[in-house]
Amino acid sequence: MLRKLLIGTALATSFAFSAHAADVKEVQMLHWWTSGGEAAALNVLKGDLAKEGYAWKDVPVAGGGGDAAMTALKAMVAAGNYPTASQMLGYTVLDYAAAGVMGDLTETAKKEGWDKSVPAALQKFSVYDGKWVAAPVNVHSVNWLWINKAVMDKIGGTEPKTFDDFVALLDKAKAAGVIPLALGGQNWQEATMFDSVVLSTGGPEFYKKAFNDLDDASLKSDTMKKSFDNLAKLVTYVDPNFSGRDWNLATAMVIKGDALVQVMGDWAKGEFHAAKKTPGTDFLCYRFPGTDGSVIYNSDMFGMFNVPDDRKAAQVALATATLSKSFQSAFNVVKGSVPARTDVPDTDFDACGKKGIADLKKANEGGTLFGSLAQGYGAPPAVANAYKDVVSKFVHGQIKTSDEAVTELVKAIDDAK
Ligand code: GAL
Repeated sequence: MLRKLLIGTALATSFAFSAHAADVKEVQMLHWWTSGGEAAALNVLKGDLAKEGYAWKDVPVAGGGGDAAMTALKAMVAAGNYPTASQMLGYTVLDYAAAGVMGDLTETAKKEGWDKSVPAALQKFSVYDGKWVAAPVNVHSVNWLWINKAVMDKIGGTEPKTFDDFVALLDKAKAAGVIPLALGGQNWQEATMFDSVVLSTGGPEFYKKAFNDLDDASLKSDTMKKSFDNLAKLVTYVDPNFSGRDWNLATAMVIKGDALVQVMGDWAKGEFHAAKKTPGTDFLCYRFPGTDGSVIYNSDMFGMFNVPDDRKAAQVALATATLSKSFQSAFNVVKGSVPARTDVPDTDFDACGKKGIADLKKANEGGTLFGSLAQGYGAPPAVANAYKDVVSKFVHGQIKTSDEAVTELVKAIDDAK
């Protein structure tokens, strides 16, 4: 559908701008980085580009996970009004590339040696048909717990190693009158948490088969049913006001000590960083219980559109700045993510960042690095959206039992494929 919508405009745009005007010294960027931590990270990029004489034209579309941003992008592209770049996740990049509207950064990539420094798991989504169409910014990982240290001390909690340990820990918080689990009741947050629950319940092979290979038997299995049971259990620890809450407000509940823990991707750490909180002292980062050794990842990419010639220099400047080693360190320290290159030292990263970098390396080498289905790296957007929808209906009681949830999931994914 995207393809049909876009092909006409791709041609229209390339004819419309054939004159060779002077280069436009402006980067127009569509993104959903509007929380405190995200905005701070983006400022690092704005600063680097300003040093090179590029003005920043911000196109922010609020909404964690980027669904609203992707709707806005679709409208812009359909109107032939391409941004210099857009924040995008995995399969969305490939969709736009297949629709023929992406630019070609291969020359820059060659000059900068990206094929040697960017991990293969990211190149799968930033290179299409042999051409670099996006610049990977970072690697985020979703299977984390973010815990308030003072609350943890108060309830005498220790790191939960299994799902049952986690439930026992949540019970302790509840008994102490603290909200055990901070969750934002939006479909992408619920599904992001469910990614971790499935990995914990079924193990690495199961996660891969179900959520990357979309293997029917795994999706239908008792293990998937058990995963929904575990999700239902977690939801009993959420406060009654969770519906619609933004993810960063859920993080703020943990930062303030109103809640014990949030299950969220490491962009949550960007919020702790912005609030000047230190790991080990103010907060704790643990892998979601039962998932140590595996990493469920996503990566923010700057998808580069086939912009008119006078805007291509800005694109090259943006891409070069994005993948420079110094930016990869400075930006990711603030964002909570880890570098999209394998040759960036971890010196400037805090303890959670160092763990994130080490975990990614180990998972990559050990074959336990998996794309997040909730975050656009498990399957194409139609499937991911179907998944988010079913998980959310289950969390909010529109789907009542785990049996029903499994049936609905299989059907929704089948229809979306
Ligand atoms: C993710 C994105 C992160 C973070 C998060 C919340 O999809 O990869 O960079 O911004 O959404 O907005």
